[in-house]
Amino acid sequence: MSKRRAFITGITGQDGSYLAEHLLALGYEVHGLVRRVATQYREPRLDRIVPILARVTLHPGSVENYASLIRVLSLEKFDEIYHLAAQSFVAESFDDGFATMSVNVMGTHHLLAAVRQLQPQCRVYFAGTSEMFGKVSEAPQRETTSFHPRSPYGISKVAGFELMRNYREAYGMFCATGILFNHESPRRGEEFVTRKITRAVAKISGGEASELVLGNLDAKRDWGHARDYVEAMHLILTHTEAKDFVVATGVSHSVRQFCELAFAHVGLDYRKFVRTDAKFERPSEVATLVGDASLARTVLGWQAKTDLRTLIAEMVDADLALVRGTAGGTANGIPQKAS
Ligand code: GDD
Repeated sequence: MSKRRAFITGITGQDGSYLAEHLLALGYEVHGLVRRVATQYREPRLDRIVPILARVTLHPGSVENYASLIRVLSLEKFDEIYHLAAQSFVAESFDDGFATMSVNVMGTHHLLAAVRQLQPQCRVYFAGTSEMFGKVSEAPQRETTSFHPRSPYGISKVAGFELMRNYREAYGMFCATGILFNHESPRRGEEFVTRKITRAVAKISGGEASELVLGNLDAKRDWGHARDYVEAMHLILTHTEAKDFVVATGVSHSVRQFCELAFAHVGLDYRKFVRTDAKFERPSEVATLVGDASLARTVLGWQAKTDLRTLIAEMVDADLALVRGTAGGTANGIPQKAS
């Protein structure tokens, strides 16, 4: 039997890199979309997929460029497409809401339109988010919870979700959305709060920094491990029926608790090092999120494997190794062979 073929937009990101590894391990032929500049100059952008570069096929292009999607889909036939490419930093979406809307909404629409035109049988996964729930109407949040997004990012993802639903209903395409709650790892970008904290813990413990400045310490998030969550993406897309699922741990902690645990991992008291500055607060905050993934558990057999302490230990240890230079690693937490 020939290998199943998957195409990942956003393959160079945290989730894209874990997903590519997961699909390769399952015997898939994996393709990814990357900006042309990344293929030409081997930018840091590719850091997370360096270990698997020889095993994946990269196609230059972007979801903003419809012609590039048409070109890839004319060249290659896929069984599954995972659409992860997006401007995913909520704070940035307040600074440049137009760019976020353009990449996230138009990008999704371009992809769906191209798939419909050239490969309507191909299954499409969309990276939905708990930010769609925003100002929550109930806790925990589940598939039936109403949306009330609180940022241009959240709004763009609700629009993407609705585009997916519309292509499913209007054209009978297999379009499924994973509504993923926060998921982290040593590969997390440094602008997100968890990695900002674990980087700072490592630097402070190594004497390279003396404080960590954050925004709202009382925000609560349901944090899981990205490696677990990409498994859910695959289960969602290979399920018998196109359906949307919440993916979460079901446990919520505050940013303050995350700080406490991360500093405690190296024997430090966070209260001595963390201070706040309003410049890191958001014009409208999502105060608290906690997901109910029981549908994913009962229908897909998926459940989160990594608890917060284990996740934090892995992230802090990876950042300690980076600071000490013992990982021979990159900023994206991928260990490289020391030369
Ligand atoms: N980034 C950041 N930096 N966040 C801070 C800071 C800070 O200095 N201080 C406090 N926070 C708070 C934010 O206000 C937010 O409430 C929380 O920490 C988490 O922020 P992020 O790590 O930036 O993630 P997010 O929850 O806004 O969004 C992430 O998760 C979503 C899933 O729910 C992103 O990965 C989104 O793309 C994803 O959809």
